[in-house]
Amino acid sequence: MDNYPIPNAEAARTLGEALRTVGYSEEAVSRLLGDEAYSGDREDVPVGERRLPRTRLATAVRAFFLQLPVSRRDAVSALGRRGVDALAATGLAEVGDDLVPRVRILPVGDLLVASDDYPKETDDDKKPPDYVAAYTPTSRLCDSLTPRRRVGRALDVGTGSGVQAMLAAQHARHVVATDVNARALAYTELNAALNGLTNIDCRRGSLFEPVTGESFDLITCNAPYVVSPESRWAYRDGGFQADELSERIVRSAAGHLADGGFATLVVSWIAGDVDEPDVRPLAWTETIDCDSWILPIWGSDPLDHAATWNDELAADPERFGDALDTWTAYLTRLGVRWVSEGAVVLHRRTGRTHTTRVDEVEEEDLEDAGDQIQRAFESRARLSELGRNTKLLEARLSVAGPMRLEHELEPRRGRTAVVAASVQLAEGTNPIVEAPPRALEIVAALDGAASLGDVIQKSAERLRLAEPQTSRFRREVLDVSRELLELGALKFV
Ligand SMILES: C[S@@+](CC[C@H](N)C(=O)[O-])C[C@H]1O[C@@H](n2cnc3c(N)ncnc32)[C@H](O)[C@@H]1O
Repeated sequence: MDNYPIPNAEAARTLGEALRTVGYSEEAVSRLLGDEAYSGDREDVPVGERRLPRTRLATAVRAFFLQLPVSRRDAVSALGRRGVDALAATGLAEVGDDLVPRVRILPVGDLLVASDDYPKETDDDKKPPDYVAAYTPTSRLCDSLTPRRRVGRALDVGTGSGVQAMLAAQHARHVVATDVNARALAYTELNAALNGLTNIDCRRGSLFEPVTGESFDLITCNAPYVVSPESRWAYRDGGFQADELSERIVRSAAGHLADGGFATLVVSWIAGDVDEPDVRPLAWTETIDCDSWILPIWGSDPLDHAATWNDELAADPERFGDALDTWTAYLTRLGVRWVSEGAVVLHRRTGRTHTTRVDEVEEEDLEDAGDQIQRAFESRARLSELGRNTKLLEARLSVAGPMRLEHELEPRRGRTAVVAASVQLAEGTNPIVEAPPRALEIVAALDGAASLGDVIQKSAERLRLAEPQTSRFRREVLDVSRELLELGALKFV
């Protein structure tokens, strides 16, 4: 790879200011290129190009979102002479009669993130080993599942472009960002300056080596977790056998968490039994002093796994076929029947017993879930302290966010009967819980005004329930309340 990026902090700061002054932002990209711009790929570039008006902002979008050349004159008009000089000084563009971008600069929330992303050659297969990706679906996953409360010290392992480190730097006093890839750390330094962030400390080394003996209030790691027989790309192949890299990350993160700290780890795990896909992360989290939440998002058999991670070869059937055979043979040797990818979230807590739960998450349903995750772990800690159901009956609970209550109706003997019901937290991971309709109706309306026991008693009277129906009703409400507390859909008031 040519010698870029050059982490020239002053030039990066100047460039960041120039891009913000011209209005280069996520909102501007969506306004000019449409709401689907972020999910588009290279084939969409010619269409996007033709949508752009002739404005200074459009010049920035053309150069840094679509990664197309612009004339030097247009570049100077959009970014000023100092902005264009900054591009040359950071190596982010070749500057001659035309300005030819070498990198993509993606607005992500309030941040600007430079990375290799779509190289000019447009051929995935030509990506160099130290290629640095931008904000990918796994980056989004890590971001969405990270609690964003204010903290002292944060750590981002495998920082790549530095995007998770920069997101953390907005709510942490100090952030350490580590990577084995020197180009990744150059991008991270450059991106920090591009965004005016001065609280990120970049350290080179493998996994947790650069932070031996240190502890953190927040740890993020969107790991190079792909279970792969190759060591082709630093961002994809961790170079460890099977899912050993993921196991190390989960165990080491637990060891580096300060009391009360959270870790959001995007990892993967293998299974020899399709019906028991999560045995391994359950074992990893059994012996650490943390509560944990295992969130499988994508799952595939060995062949689909091989196809997904080699799709850059799909246009060349022979090489694609060879890769499929090599990868599936590797997975077969390891006894793998299923590969899961997702997140393991940890919360370090003093206490003798710790809890784990597994919940599948749909990628399309996932929104920012940091607050939900924090609430869910707080409730789990409280539930462990409370112990028995009688204590939970004394607690006041309320819904924690917007809830969606659904009834399934069926005509029966001339009447419409409610045959099933579910309640969904309409935010975060959007979890759905099914339960008896009468229990859900109560729980979805909890407002913390009275204890759960009183609410159940009043409802039982209103429904004219006698014993033993009242006891059954109480159990139903308690079960669904526990479940919704653990999912962060209900909260203690
Ligand atoms: C999937 S990328 C994630 C990048 C970025 N954190 C994000 O969320 O977009 C994984 C990163 O881990 C880095 N990496 C690979 N092996 C590593 C190791 N042994 N220790 C630390 N980082 C490693 C890669 O260079 C790459 O930047």
